[in-house]
Amino acid sequence: MFKFTAKALACALSLSIAGMAQAAEPITIKFAHVVAEHTPKGQGALLFKKLVDERMDGKVTVQVYPNSSLFGDGKEMEALLLGDVQIIAPSLAKFEHYTKQIQIFDLPFLFDDINAVDRFQQSPEGKALLTSMESKGITGLGYWHNGMKQLSANKKLVEPKDARGLKFRVQASAVLDEQFKALRAAPRKMSFAEVYQGLQTGVVNGAENPYSNIYSQKMHEVQKFITETDHGVLDYMVITNTKFWEGLPEDIRSELTAILAEVTVEVNKQAEALNQKDKQRILDAGTTEIVTLTPEQREEWREAMRPVWKKFEGEIGADLIKAAEAANQAN
Ligand code: LMR
Repeated sequence: MFKFTAKALACALSLSIAGMAQAAEPITIKFAHVVAEHTPKGQGALLFKKLVDERMDGKVTVQVYPNSSLFGDGKEMEALLLGDVQIIAPSLAKFEHYTKQIQIFDLPFLFDDINAVDRFQQSPEGKALLTSMESKGITGLGYWHNGMKQLSANKKLVEPKDARGLKFRVQASAVLDEQFKALRAAPRKMSFAEVYQGLQTGVVNGAENPYSNIYSQKMHEVQKFITETDHGVLDYMVITNTKFWEGLPEDIRSELTAILAEVTVEVNKQAEALNQKDKQRILDAGTTEIVTLTPEQREEWREAMRPVWKKFEGEIGADLIKAAEAANQAN
């Protein structure tokens, strides 16, 4: 009898220890991205990890993989859907296979500045895009800014015709492809990790990026000119695998949601300053002339690129474009 009770006790004990071990097993979140750490997205991922470490008692472990070290931009979305990575933050140019509406962010000269982009992202229409891919297994958790894009090249670009015949690297986006075709330039799709080498070897002659991506990838060392066009935006949607996210215990999910909201505010507050700092660093490096356009010259670029809107209005939706244009007016 005693023997049986002792055995039962031992068994119960080991079961409860196993249970405790199971409860203590942390949830791992791999957060992969393609840019350097000292960029708005890179800093955001690190801050997310830091706050989770500080506040979640070891219940969740975040592993950050910068610089395409886990997955490059061609593979990261597929990896998210397969559950090989739990959070990524692709640029808004990289969603066209999942929803055509998000292409809106690539329309050239749609937003006057990053504040207008922010207002649209926070509008009901912008927020609706975060949940627009849930049927495909992707949940949007928020928008992170990088900033407005500038055109770089080894030729001085002042008028749109200066871009004719040049090869420009583009992200995997039909809108951006058309944008360069509208200039009678040649767009070349290329993953982010290959851009520096592409520019260095002359596979492409130019690119479009915010200053933080140019500086952190050392693109200015292989580009003699940057024209400050602010012609479009390069921002991100932080996304997760819907099944993974919905499968998290309620308390964990809400803690993570709160932390992410805090990180989002911080990233979006810092992004512009970071880009301006990197612009100054490029000027200090003395490798690259930054060309400033007069309002009239900028208007010429707008006119040259603007026909792209018509081509995508059907896919994106005229109402959505109207809502985005309305965001140029501060309330
Ligand atoms: C690019 O491919 O140029 C960007 O999407 C990279 C990034 O994530 O900022």
